[in-house]
Amino acid sequence: MFRWGVLSTAKIGVTAVIPAICDAENSVLSGVASRDLAKAQAVAERFGAPHAFGSYDEMLASNEIDGVYIPLPTSQHVEWSLRAAEAGKHVLCEKPISLHASEIAALQRARDTNGVLISEGFMVTYHPQWLKVRELIAEGAIGTLRQVQAAFTYFNKDAGNMRNQLSLGGGALPDIGVYPTVVTRFVTGKEPLRVAATVERDPDFGTDRYASVRADFDGFELTFYVATQLAARQSIVFHGDKGYIEVLAPFNTGKYDHAKVTVHNSGHSGATEYSFGDVNHYRLQVEAFARAAQGEDVPVFSLEDSVLNQKLIDAVYRADESGTWETV
Ligand SMILES: NC(=O)c1ccc[n+]([C@@H]2O[C@H](COP(=O)([O-])OP(=O)(O)OC[C@H]3O[C@@H](n4cnc5c(N)ncnc54)[C@H](OP(=O)(O)O)[C@@H]3O)[C@@H](O)[C@H]2O)c1
Repeated sequence: MFRWGVLSTAKIGVTAVIPAICDAENSVLSGVASRDLAKAQAVAERFGAPHAFGSYDEMLASNEIDGVYIPLPTSQHVEWSLRAAEAGKHVLCEKPISLHASEIAALQRARDTNGVLISEGFMVTYHPQWLKVRELIAEGAIGTLRQVQAAFTYFNKDAGNMRNQLSLGGGALPDIGVYPTVVTRFVTGKEPLRVAATVERDPDFGTDRYASVRADFDGFELTFYVATQLAARQSIVFHGDKGYIEVLAPFNTGKYDHAKVTVHNSGHSGATEYSFGDVNHYRLQVEAFARAAQGEDVPVFSLEDSVLNQKLIDAVYRADESGTWETV
């Protein structure tokens, strides 16, 4: 069994990823660390973990941990992923793993020097609905893909939330802008060539609260908007010359709706639906990561992929500043 340690008592850990570790067939929750020992103990006790640590460093020094899951505020992801790798721990770090593509080179060096796995937690890439969309596009179910249109929004003006704190890496683009880009790259296997964008910042928080993006790929374009102060919604459509694919709950299945992929093909009457029940992509992610860390040849989201996704986000900020197309 792969022995997990969790760095912090973050909400996403307690509500989604720790339960997924506990349910995973090849994993066990060995320890929880927090800046506050009492919080670590409470979470460890709740999920039956034998170890609680009053600092992240203590956990990294422990022999009871094979790998760590890092759901810290975004601005701390690179630092703690590096520290964990240098302590010989495998690292599953929450998205976005960095705020600038250039920072990921240090993680690649730490991975290679220390012989550990480091992977960014894009749980969507483990969900069978996204494997299905990839397969459908590859087999020409919608002909030639020409347009991808996506939205991901929620309303959150809580000044105490890390999403509204610039110093913690808050903002719509780092928090949710990374999803339309990652799934589009995942299902097409293509990289963007150039980007145009508008970004609006909250006057008090300084974080980007709205971004509208157009990214040109070879043969198709991706247009999307993300927002932290709009009513919650998520959608994505892949439009080809012979049909289109809608993904009902593209990023947070279960929370927004259930996972369903619908293919509307102009060659057929009606639509073809694929449903995926209550698949837990966090659990699939945990199981794949543990298998890969233990040497099995299992695909996991690579740091090379992280660099390419973050390069697109970096280009969005540059395009907003320059007011013109920016090469990715
Ligand atoms: N993949 C997904 O579905 C998904 C969903 C939500 C969030 N996320 C990502 O997960 C990360 C955490 O998000 P979250 O909403 O779960 O965060 P959160 O509830 O605010 O938790 C962050 C944790 O980091 C620790 N921390 C260390 N330094 C801190 C500081 N200066 N200020 C605040 N907390 C600090 C705290 O734990 P201790 O007090 O215990 O040390 C805190 O509980 C983000 O990077 C986010 O993008 C991913």
